[in-house]
Amino acid sequence: MTATRATGTRTVLKPPMRIARQYRILLYVTGWGVWLTGVLWVLFHYFMRVKGPFGFKTNPLEEWWLITHGGFAVLSTFLFGWMWSQHIVIGWDMRWRRRSGGTMAGVTIFLILSGYAIYYIGDPDWLNWTAIAHWGIGVAALAIFFIHWLSKSRPRRA
Ligand code: HEM
Ligand code: HEM
Repeated sequence: MTATRATGTRTVLKPPMRIARQYRILLYVTGWGVWLTGVLWVLFHYFMRVKGPFGFKTNPLEEWWLITHGGFAVLSTFLFGWMWSQHIVIGWDMRWRRRSGGTMAGVTIFLILSGYAIYYIGDPDWLNWTAIAHWGIGVAALAIFFIHWLSKSRPRRA
């Protein structure tokens, strides 16, 4: 990351702000990990229930998708903090890909907060709708990421 240069008391922002290769790989593995495990949970939960002696029951793999999802979720939260200091604030100040980047950041904050809420909401109706909002926005996040990734917006200093 080479976007900032300190000159006295002022920080000069300059492109490019590409993410260093090793962090980019970590970011992509974590992003795909959290997305795929979430989608697999939805598929197994709604469409791949198995027959038991007393009718249909939860697919045993569902639990594993949730366990791995939780692991990737912790990593995502950590990486979001890192991205905040290394990417998000810098891009925002440069007014570069603000719309798609800001949406990405907002969606990530929503996923972190709604994922956390899933642990503690007691009311079954609220829990159900929070979970549906969480994975609905989560599934859509991939499209938002591609829009951000492919965006042609150029830097505009304020
Ligand atoms: C969770 C939030 C975000 C994620 C996961 C994310 C992720 C990424 C990724 C993976 C790239 C491609 C990097 C590369 O090819 O090296 C990228 C590029 C970029 N992002 Fe973000 N981004 C986020 C938020 C933001 C925000 C809030 C802004 C600015 C307001 C922003 C501005 C940019 C810009 C300007 C580029 C192009 C950099 C270049 O081509 O040198 N991003 N982003
Ligand atoms: C920053 C990204 C994300 C974070 C921090 C996050 C966090 C969490 C957390 C903490 C849980 C509760 C885990 C548990 O009950 O043990 C959860 C559940 C879940 N998440 Fe995510 N998640 C993220 C992204 C996603 C995405 C992208 C999807 C979908 C593609 C998704 C789908 C789900 C599903 C289906 C559940 C299970 C809901 C239920 O138990 O009813 N999540 N997530």
